[in-house]
Amino acid sequence: MNEAVLNDLAEPNKPDHAGPETEDSLNIEYTDTVGQPLCEEAKIRTKEVNVYYADNQAIHNVSLDIGENEVIALIGPSGCGKSTYLRTLNRMNDTIDICRVEGQILLDGEDIYTKKQDPVLLRARVGMVFQKPNPFPKSIYDNVAYGPRIHGLTRNKSELDDLVEESLTKAGLFQEVKDRLDAPGTGLSGGQQQRLCIARTIAVQPEVILMDEPASALDPIATAKIEELINELKENFTIVIVTHSMQQAARVSQRTAYFHMGRLIEVGETDQIFTNPAHELTEKYITGRFG
Ligand SMILES: Nc1ncnc2c1ncn2[C@@H]1O[C@H](COP(=O)(O)OP(=O)(O)OP(=O)(O)O)[C@@H](O)[C@H]1O
Ligand SMILES: [Mg+2]
Repeated sequence: MNEAVLNDLAEPNKPDHAGPETEDSLNIEYTDTVGQPLCEEAKIRTKEVNVYYADNQAIHNVSLDIGENEVIALIGPSGCGKSTYLRTLNRMNDTIDICRVEGQILLDGEDIYTKKQDPVLLRARVGMVFQKPNPFPKSIYDNVAYGPRIHGLTRNKSELDDLVEESLTKAGLFQEVKDRLDAPGTGLSGGQQQRLCIARTIAVQPEVILMDEPASALDPIATAKIEELINELKENFTIVIVTHSMQQAARVSQRTAYFHMGRLIEVGETDQIFTNPAHELTEKYITGRFG
C-alpha cells in the first residue's frame, strides 16, 4: 500500500456532533457478508459460526476462511465480537464457562471441536498472543523453553538451547537479552515482554498465530518492531490479527475482515477495504462515523 493511501487512513474519530450514531440513526440493513470470505487454500475454514455468552449471542452466522500463509486483519467497533471470533479458532472460549460455540471450524479440513481434539495440542498448532504481554513469572529462557518442554520437542539441553535462541532471534529479541537469559521475563520492557511472548508462541512451532491487539499497549517504537516482526513471520505462519488501528491493518495484512455487532459485514483485499469498501457500514467505520 502506498504512502498517500496510508496517510489518508484516519483512525476512527469520534463523530463531531453530539452522541455517537446508532444503528437506528444510520438506518442501514444488514446483508450477508460481502466480498471474498472464502479462499481456495484455506488453512482454517469457519462455517456458519454462532457464539453465545449464556443467552447473549455475540457472533452471528460467520463464515470466513483464513488462507494459508496470509495475514488477515479483523477490525470493527468495540464489542463487535473480534476477540470472541478469534478465540473460537483455538478453542480459547472453552475457558469461559458460559460461552457456547456453534457451527464448524476446520483446521486443515479437520473439525477442531470434536471430543478427540486435545485443546492443549490444538493451541500448540494455533498459538495466541494477547493484548497485554503476559510472560510467566520465570526466567526469559524458561518462558521460551516452557512449551517445547511440555510437548517434548527437543531431545537434550543443547537442542533446547538452540530452539530457545532461534525463537528469540525470530522474535527479534535475542540480541537484547542474550546476556541475561536467566533474568525474569517480567523484568523486561513492555515491548520486549510482548516479543518474549511471541518467542514463547513460536517456540512450539505453531502453524497459525492469533494476535489480539498485540501492540495496543505499546509505544510507537515497540509497535513498529512488532509490525516488522509480523512481516517477517508471515513467511512461515498464518496470522490472524485483531487491531483497532487501521494504519496497522493496512501495514501488515493482505486481507481485512470488518465485523459489526457480531456479524461479518465485509471481507476483501486490505487496499480495497480501505480505499473502496463495498458495504456502507464498512465505509462509515473507516471514515470515522463510528468506532
Ligand atoms: N467473557 C464474557 N462474558 C460475557 N460476555 C462477553 C464475554 N466476552 C465478551 N462478551 C460480550 O461479547 C460481545 C463481543 O465482545 P468481544 O470482546 O468479542 O468484542 P471485541 O470486538 O473484541 O471488542 P474490543 O474491541 O472492545 O476488544 C460483547 O457484547 C461482550 O460484552
Ligand atoms: Mg477484543
